[in-house]
Amino acid sequence: MGTLRLRYGRTAAGSGVRRVLIVLGCVACTAMQMVASPVPGVRQPVDPQAAWLAYSAVDARRVFPAGSAVPDTILRLGDSPVEATAAGELWRGFEGMLHRVLRVETSAGPTAAGQNLIVVGSETELVAWRPSLKSAQALGPEGFRLRRVVDGDSSLLIVEGADERGVLYGSFALLRRIAEEQSVAGLNVVEAPSAPVRWTNEWDNPDGSIERGYAGRSIFFDGGTVRGDLSRVGEYARLLASVGINGCTINNVNADARLLRPENLREIARVAAAFRPYGVRLSLSVAMNSPEVIGGLKTFDPLAPEVAAWWQAKVDEIYKAIPDFGGVIIKADSEGQPGPSQYRRTPAEAANVLARALKPHGGVVLYRGFVYNHHLDWRDLKADRARAGYDNFHALDGTFDDNVIVQIKNGPIDFQVREPVSPLFAGLRKTNEAIELQITQEYTGQQRHLVFLVPMWKTALDMDMHVPGARPSRVEDIVTGKTFARKSGGFVGVANVGLDDYWLGHPLAMANLYGFGRLAWNPSLSAAAISDEWTRLTFGNDAQVRSVTEGLLLNSWHIYEEYTGPLGVGTLTDIIGVHYGPGIESAERNGWGQWIRADHAGIGMDRTVATGTGYIGQYPAGLAAEYETLRTCPDALLLFMHHVPYTYRLHSGETVIQHVYNTHYAGAAAAAAQVPAWESLAGKVPDRTYFEVLRRLNYQAGHAVVWRDAVVDWFHKTSGIADEQGRVGRHPDRVEAEKMQLDGYVTTAVTPWETASEGEAVVCKAQADCSASTVFSRENGWYDVAVQYFDLKDGASHFTLQVNGVTIDSWIADDTLPSDKLDGHTSTRHVTSGVALHSGDRIRIVGTPDSREPAPLDYVEMTPAFRQAWAAAH
Ligand code: GCU
Repeated sequence: MGTLRLRYGRTAAGSGVRRVLIVLGCVACTAMQMVASPVPGVRQPVDPQAAWLAYSAVDARRVFPAGSAVPDTILRLGDSPVEATAAGELWRGFEGMLHRVLRVETSAGPTAAGQNLIVVGSETELVAWRPSLKSAQALGPEGFRLRRVVDGDSSLLIVEGADERGVLYGSFALLRRIAEEQSVAGLNVVEAPSAPVRWTNEWDNPDGSIERGYAGRSIFFDGGTVRGDLSRVGEYARLLASVGINGCTINNVNADARLLRPENLREIARVAAAFRPYGVRLSLSVAMNSPEVIGGLKTFDPLAPEVAAWWQAKVDEIYKAIPDFGGVIIKADSEGQPGPSQYRRTPAEAANVLARALKPHGGVVLYRGFVYNHHLDWRDLKADRARAGYDNFHALDGTFDDNVIVQIKNGPIDFQVREPVSPLFAGLRKTNEAIELQITQEYTGQQRHLVFLVPMWKTALDMDMHVPGARPSRVEDIVTGKTFARKSGGFVGVANVGLDDYWLGHPLAMANLYGFGRLAWNPSLSAAAISDEWTRLTFGNDAQVRSVTEGLLLNSWHIYEEYTGPLGVGTLTDIIGVHYGPGIESAERNGWGQWIRADHAGIGMDRTVATGTGYIGQYPAGLAAEYETLRTCPDALLLFMHHVPYTYRLHSGETVIQHVYNTHYAGAAAAAAQVPAWESLAGKVPDRTYFEVLRRLNYQAGHAVVWRDAVVDWFHKTSGIADEQGRVGRHPDRVEAEKMQLDGYVTTAVTPWETASEGEAVVCKAQADCSASTVFSRENGWYDVAVQYFDLKDGASHFTLQVNGVTIDSWIADDTLPSDKLDGHTSTRHVTSGVALHSGDRIRIVGTPDSREPAPLDYVEMTPAFRQAWAAAH
């Protein structure tokens, strides 16, 4: 914290006001100052990789109330590896949560009276062991039944699965109930998953990098092949199985054909072996041109007999190495990937070639509906990327083989912060469908921002498509096969976990992986129920922890939407780059088709049938009618469906432009308020996790201000319409770096302009230190001093904040944000809280460049803080 010099304030020891410069706290270094001491009984420490399977101690009296005996033995009826996993997991859970070391018996002989058993087995095994336990109600595939049966002197806790996966899922379900301290006394539960396909996709590359991965390197690959140490793979499979996920595609949808070479398949078989005890089937993304690239054929035309033969032989070879291989994912004719269009063949013709090769082995093809032209003509007002999924697939309905599933992203564009559901869900009646959801937060803050996505996914799954003659027709009903009586289909989540701690980087982001699995199992679960389950499993059953965490999770999507892109306009991020920070105009004037069509008069894509691209006409009539007219189109999707003037009044009564201003201020304020909310849990969640979350929430609060200012400034300049509340473009607390007294620093323009205050910043090109100083000329008082700087990917510049030559704070810009330029990705805020300042003080920021990072500064902002403390002292 540096030396404190006598200035203003009250010393701790003195009674009167003495002149002391006091720094009350430093927001960015809270982690170092605040030591949350463990509270007795609290779950400490935590293994970051344990995620929601922490198995911390619970109150045994709640789980086994008087009269219900705690088991002492696990009786495992089956001997498959998956059932062995189930029994092992029960053992582990009982030991962790109840401190009870169970015996494990595998003999299915008669049980001695007085024994308290957990009986684990399939329906068939259970009935063979004790015919009286046969239940009238049969279980659905992969389902389970949990029962407590008192039989004379013995008490049986029965985990009965329809099959071996059911046994495993039932065991995890029992452990979940115990973790939530639910009583087993009257236990009688039957469950089965909503759909057969419950997979994650991992966009991992053979070199160990992960496309759109934000938590380190691949757990599967390194240096062009499968990693030697696969211990994290087994742990991951355990997490997946615990929420009922039964498949995992381990490589990028932008597939590297070389993975199908025999030597790589042999290695991939090791990954499948690590998955197997958890019932997780491995699958691969395949490149359509593999027959040419690695097979040496002169074509990859799906209708060429030699191509079909090549695929058949390759699939047979895969099954030799991996007998429980799940199938393949195909991304074709999309974003530069090769596809059947090269030979004027359809996606169905391509999918079916693979499907026929897989069919004898029980494998499936997930063919992605994400097929679009990324060279659209932006000047053509009828061109529309959102139309592409339906336009490319609707006419093919009925031509896909029955082991093909069309995998459709929830929205018609690409995982934006808000999109309508894809009309393709209702556009295929004779085709299996799966919904593709994105767990990795590509367009939603890349795990640096807290965004619990389950409420967003629920919005899509709950959406009633109003399909004529087909009821029920919510998206949930369609992908689970109910609406159109399909046998297959389900859920795919793009997870992209990495080797970093907490799997997804942000500890709270794990609620998204958990939530995806739970929704795939049962899409009717509410977001609140899922968030509460996750919190209890991860942090325990403390009421305050539950309510604070629930508040943070459930509000987070709304908050993020408010400070990024409201009214369905899209995330307003840098569309052609890393998809992280603000970059409003990047969406325009290019072929990618994520246009917002904003000019000085108005904004939004006209997708109406009457005057626009006709996209709305792809929805069933009821929904189309709602979206087509402004009177009924929901505000949340207004700019996705319509082009309107900035002065257009929403149903809420606000104008569009004022809504943009208001939401951005509200969103940034709400992001800041997440910090004290989380701080209230100090000592109640494990320290390591507490500080990791706190660090990220502090960062998010700062980056939300970057987002807010970029968006409101851009709209202000473009529309020329003032903010009714006079906030936009007025920063009375701010001093621009370029207007400070500079020593060594030089002014530079920032691109895009809206990502720096007034479009400019200063950089230090000198070898040594540079400084920027200003004389404080406001009223004496306590202030929070925010320094806005740019933290480039490379380099670790050093900054110090001085008041009258005394260093009061220092920090290093050593983050690895996804850009090496001064822009909306790298703009970062460091706040020193509670600084006593008086008129005439000299505030100086010293920047020391490092490597190619020139210690860039944008501005310093001094906002009054602790007014009451100041008033009390005077
Ligand atoms: C997005 C993403 C790509 C990805 C693609 C896909 O466009 O940015 O990295 O390859 O989706 O889903 O295929």
